[in-house]
Amino acid sequence: MPGRVVRVDLDDIAARLGVGAEEIARVHGLAGDPAPAALPAKGAAPAMLERLGVGADDAAEIMAGWPDPDSPLWTDELRWLLDRSAALVRADLGGYGWLVPGPELPRDRGPAWRHLYVYVYLALVDAVMGYHREHGVAEEVSWATLADLGRNLAVDRRMRGEGWPVMQAWLSLHWRGGVYELGRLQHQRGVGAIDLHVPDSGPLTPAAIDASLAEARAFFPVHFPDEAYTEFACGSWLLDPQLLEYLPEDSNIVRFQRRFELEPYEEAEGIDPDVEVRRFVFRTLTTPLDQLPQTTALQRAVVEHFKAGGHFQWRKGRFPLR
Ligand SMILES: CC(C)(COP(=O)(O)OP(=O)(O)OC[C@H]1O[C@@H](n2cnc3c(N)ncnc32)[C@H](O)[C@@H]1OP(=O)(O)O)[C@@H](O)C(=O)NCCC(=O)NCCS
Repeated sequence: MPGRVVRVDLDDIAARLGVGAEEIARVHGLAGDPAPAALPAKGAAPAMLERLGVGADDAAEIMAGWPDPDSPLWTDELRWLLDRSAALVRADLGGYGWLVPGPELPRDRGPAWRHLYVYVYLALVDAVMGYHREHGVAEEVSWATLADLGRNLAVDRRMRGEGWPVMQAWLSLHWRGGVYELGRLQHQRGVGAIDLHVPDSGPLTPAAIDASLAEARAFFPVHFPDEAYTEFACGSWLLDPQLLEYLPEDSNIVRFQRRFELEPYEEAEGIDPDVEVRRFVFRTLTTPLDQLPQTTALQRAVVEHFKAGGHFQWRKGRFPLR
């Protein structure tokens, strides 16, 4: 029974990778048996990592774990996953939905394991750049967008590895041509609405937002003329109206929030807003409440809110494009 043989192999791969068998079955189902992932030449990798905003510490680890054909770090099951994760992301080129490229791997087994999804994305730089070119996207927008890889690796480093599980899926949006960094904000394609994301890159000033929105209004009709956008939308902890009780009226977060009309509150599926606030305000998910820094007004507000037994909300809002 051929089906049975495949099943046993998949279970074995899952066991060797230390992940659930159903996750490996999902990857296998989406990717099939693809050609090996084609990474850039190793000699070209340092320059590419620099363009992708990857800092020196992360670049050194990535180079140390490089999947050379004879690398002892790259076991068969790691290569199996690398090839299939790259194939499943590539198969959805042009997509803009949430896509998990593969299971969360144990991260204490060295650089090949820790950075497996970085190698996946490196193998797909040419593919996404080609997609951007087909849509007439300027190279500088492409590189600014893809440099979120380096930014997220730096965040993950700050978070001692607690950040990457979410980011490995988030970055698949960039690598499928689903999101574009235009000035201060990232703009995600969608149905009728452009979803706004706020990278960790300095203050969220009203002027920077206005400029980014103006850029998006010009960008999408030119590069995605078949997609009709009437609204900007956002889902974020930044839109929790409880923050208005703590932050001054002239704070950037308050002024950002005031742009939106909020949808009625509904618990967001698969998102724990208290965890997300910890992620974005403290960059740690595990530090006890009493040991969290109290440097900024927001950090003090968050701890006060938690200590009073409060919880945060992940809110969605929208405003007209024009
Ligand atoms: C969104 C962001 C840029 C807003 O920062 P900002 O422009 O400084 O915002 P405000 O002017 O409203 O800040 C008000 C106060 O809160 C502090 N603050 C704001 N965001 C903070 C954050 N993420 N962590 C810690 N403190 C923060 C500010 O320092 C200021 O305090 P202070 O007056 O004591 O210095 C910032 O929160 C950030 O970089 N977040 C990470 C990315 C993110 O959350 N994206 C959304 C994901 S859904």
